Formats: sequence, C-alpha cells, structure tokens
Amino acid sequence: MKGIILAGGEGTRLRPLTLVTNKHLLPVYDKPMIIHPLETLKSLGIKDICIVTGGEYMADFMRFLGSGKNFGVNFTYKIQDGPLGIAHALLQAEDFAKGEKKIAVILGDNIFEKIELENDFDENDNNAIIFLKEVEHPERFGVAVFDSNGKLIEIEEKPKVPKSKFAVTGFYIYPTDVFDFIKTLKPSARGELEITDVNNWYLKQGRLKYIVVKGFWSDAGTFPTLLRANLLVGIKRLIEGKMEQWLFS
Ligand code: G1P
Repeated sequence: MKGIILAGGEGTRLRPLTLVTNKHLLPVYDKPMIIHPLETLKSLGIKDICIVTGGEYMADFMRFLGSGKNFGVNFTYKIQDGPLGIAHALLQAEDFAKGEKKIAVILGDNIFEKIELENDFDENDNNAIIFLKEVEHPERFGVAVFDSNGKLIEIEEKPKVPKSKFAVTGFYIYPTDVFDFIKTLKPSARGELEITDVNNWYLKQGRLKYIVVKGFWSDAGTFPTLLRANLLVGIKRLIEGKMEQWLFS
C-alpha cells in the first residue's frame, strides 16, 4: 500500500509562525511536524509516499525531505493549487495511486502515538477505514454518530452539539475509487471539498469501517494543540529515556 501526506493549507490559526514557513515544517519536539506522520506511515511498512502541499512551500519540503533516501522511503511531490480542502488535496495524488487497490492517507499535522490495523485488514476488499479517538471537545472535528445499537450511522463535520465524543482523526484508508467520488463533490459552505463527505459516501454504501485509536493523538494546527503535540512527543521521549540527560543535568 502507498501512503499520502496532506500538507496543504495556510496555517492561518498559527500566524505569525506560518507567515514565512509552512505549518508542517514547524517543530514538534525534536523534528519538523511532517516527520511524525511520515513515521506513522513507515510504522505500517509504507515506503512509497506522496507529499501534497501548496506551491509556495514546495521547494522547502523538497529541500528538507529530498528523494526520501535519508528517511528510507521514496517521495513523490504534488502541488495543490489553493487551500480548497482535504479531499481536494487528496485528488492531486490520483496519478500516484494508479494501479493500487487502497491508499493510506494522513494529515500532515496529525500526531499519533501509534496506528494499528486489525488482523483481518484486507488490502483487496473495497472498504474504507476511518480511525476514531474519544476526545473532550469533539466539536472541533468530524464527529461519529452512533445509533442506539452502537452502529456508526453518520459523520458530522464540526457539529455545534456533538452526538458522541468520538472524533474522526486525520488518518484514513481508502479504496482507489475515492478519486472518482471526489470529482463529483461540491465545495462546502467554507469553500472546501470535505473529507467528511467522502467518509459519509462510503458509510451510506456500507463500505466504511472504523478502528478506535489506542495511544495518544493530537492535531497541531492551533497554539494549544501545537503545544500539546510538543508535550506528548516530548513526554514520550522522556519515558523512552531519551530526554533525561537534558532534563536532569
Ligand atoms: C479536518 C477534518 C475533520 C477531522 C480533522 C482531524 O479538520 O475536516 O473531519 O476531524 O481534520 O484533524 P480541519 O483540521 O481541516 O479543521
């Protein structure tokens, strides 16, 4: 399976940090942010990886990431013309995914402790998978809605009154028919092609599975969440024993 890191957007909520660089190149503890989703993909054995970003910062990404040789992967780069949404960014990777059955997609500002696929994961069936995490403030995210039997029935994008505490994280696995569907999408009220519309399309067809993420998860697109992502990764390094010298000497 190939992987796609979506690193577009203007990072407006992190200004002035994002005035002269891209959000995904800002530090999250000891590495530029984008390295963390890269490591998540690598942990699943994914080695062919497409980076999608806006034109302005493409040169910075290429200078930092190069061919992928230094990271043990192969990079392909695709430009997204304008911040037109996550689904629109994903569409830019259509050529890259040709010949594949499924693709793994991760948002460049999503920091996971770990992602585990289930034992019965089948690259050849035609199901999509979303990854949920129980959070205190689900209203900032896509939110899972369950019926009284606990069956997933809808995803609501940033509802004012969330119907569960389960947020849709920024890691997704899609069959490659996702590209044809994205081409039929219309922009939402915020002028973007929404990934939640993609997930609801699979759900309506009975082709959407979900996995609840174990371990921590944070996005990093605001000052509080960027700080939290830094703390989570820093504390993980501390627990691994890689930070003690700095902290206690
Ligand atoms: C996006 C998605 C949302 C998802 C979130 C995860 O939100 O639209 O469904 O829960 O990523 O980070 P955005 O960060 O674009 O506001």
